[in-house]
Amino acid sequence: MCVELLEGAEAPRLDCDASRHETVRDGVIAIRLALIGKGGAGKSALAGTLARILARRGERVLAVDCDPMPGLSLSLGLGVVDVRIPDDATEERPEGEDGPRYRLRRGLSAERAVEMYAVPGPDGVRYLQFGKLRERTPQLMRAQFAFRQILDELSSSERTVVGDLAGGTRQPFFGWGRYAELLIVVVEPTAKGVLSARRLARLASLTAGQERPGGQRVAAVVTKAGAPDDAALVTERTGLEVLAAVPWDRAVCDAERYGISVLDHAPGSPAVAAITALADRLAEHRPALASLS
Ligand SMILES: Nc1ncnc2c1ncn2[C@@H]1O[C@H](COP(=O)(O)OP(=O)(O)OP(=O)(O)O)[C@@H](O)[C@H]1O
Ligand SMILES: [Mg+2]
Repeated sequence: MCVELLEGAEAPRLDCDASRHETVRDGVIAIRLALIGKGGAGKSALAGTLARILARRGERVLAVDCDPMPGLSLSLGLGVVDVRIPDDATEERPEGEDGPRYRLRRGLSAERAVEMYAVPGPDGVRYLQFGKLRERTPQLMRAQFAFRQILDELSSSERTVVGDLAGGTRQPFFGWGRYAELLIVVVEPTAKGVLSARRLARLASLTAGQERPGGQRVAAVVTKAGAPDDAALVTERTGLEVLAAVPWDRAVCDAERYGISVLDHAPGSPAVAAITALADRLAEHRPALASLS
């Protein structure tokens, strides 16, 4: 089991036992990651762009949206998506049986559910959400159970998963990021951002072993970076390895304003270059992450 430590420790690296390579598919090792962080840090913009860059490299990418508020579909360039996991995808647990209250209906596998309910997006990315909050939460209860079961049961060798979690602490530490081998803390290089990242990282180190029997790795990506030493600052203050520093970039703001992907709006922008470098960096870590599957 690999659980990362933090605070005061040396920056954890992502290099544990790489002996198990069973997730290799067509020469590419599928990877499952979840982006967590303070509200507004830049998780959705990063998730949407990274998902498409990985898909352009030939991976089967599932972009998963855990946020009941709008975000990831716009950053992917899919616009507003109303498709949700329908209630009839689930059945209620029969009395006397153990387990969650709702589960995928008999005969519906996680992979089939993705085929049915994940929306095809640009560059072949599939986009899955449980739904968006418009009225009351109970409306989405069945969909949320189904969504989490799908993520838990999807074969780790089949698809790369890029998950965009809601801001803050609630989701990452209540099972929503359990499917991921790698939690990426998205952090703005501000005093508030770094302090939040440090706390998220510490929580992640405490819960990683409980969330997944194989353990989880935790690393950081700096967003809206401006100073040359932003990555060093984040590493020093959080103990996390920084996989990339995405600069503050007007092109991201403009794309978000128009509700489109920065990849379509400004493919040559510095932010896109940095997220491309992140995709390269992840490639180096895949064997180690696969060992956690
Ligand atoms: N590299 C960047 N440069 C400039 N602005 C950025 C960058 N990344 C994100 N932003 C801006 O930050 C804001 C928040 O981005 P985003 O919605 O991706 O954050 P989030 O972490 O997903 O937020 P939430 O927690 O609400 O889901 C947006 O206005 C976006 O344009
Ligand atoms: Mg978001």
